[in-house]
Amino acid sequence: MKLAIGSDHAGFVLKEYIKQVLLTKGYDITDVGTFDKGSVDYSDFGFKVAHLVSDGEVDKGILICGTGIGMSVAANKVKGIRAALAFDIYTAMQSRKHLDANILVLGERVTGQGLAEEIVNVWLDTPFEGGRHEKRIEKIAQFEAEYLK
Ligand code: RB5
Repeated sequence: MKLAIGSDHAGFVLKEYIKQVLLTKGYDITDVGTFDKGSVDYSDFGFKVAHLVSDGEVDKGILICGTGIGMSVAANKVKGIRAALAFDIYTAMQSRKHLDANILVLGERVTGQGLAEEIVNVWLDTPFEGGRHEKRIEKIAQFEAEYLK
């Protein structure tokens, strides 16, 4: 599976940790940065990952900032993106089962490395349930087609 990962300075340490975990497990990772702790704007990296996912260059994305909120807001502006900010296993799992979330967002200042790793594992391993959830996602796609250029 091809994944894109990105963070701002406040998510950099967790991004590096998660990237190593995923590389060890054999995932194909595109890291869009940031590459050090120098201050940057989360939106720049959120849009990069979101576009890679939206354009089909990768299967899924992972974004990390301090709280996860800025990355969520930015990524969800991109057409076709369903970015889910998860602080626990249940919400991560549900974001795949019910929303077919294509980007997982984490907050380094909120979630420790151990829990973040478990959240990522569960998120990547949980399939979309389809069925009644399909038409709900379709309504969002229709809205995007109608109102976003
Ligand atoms: C950066 O200080 C911080 O504002 C950012 O990482 C994020 O938490 C925004 O939502």
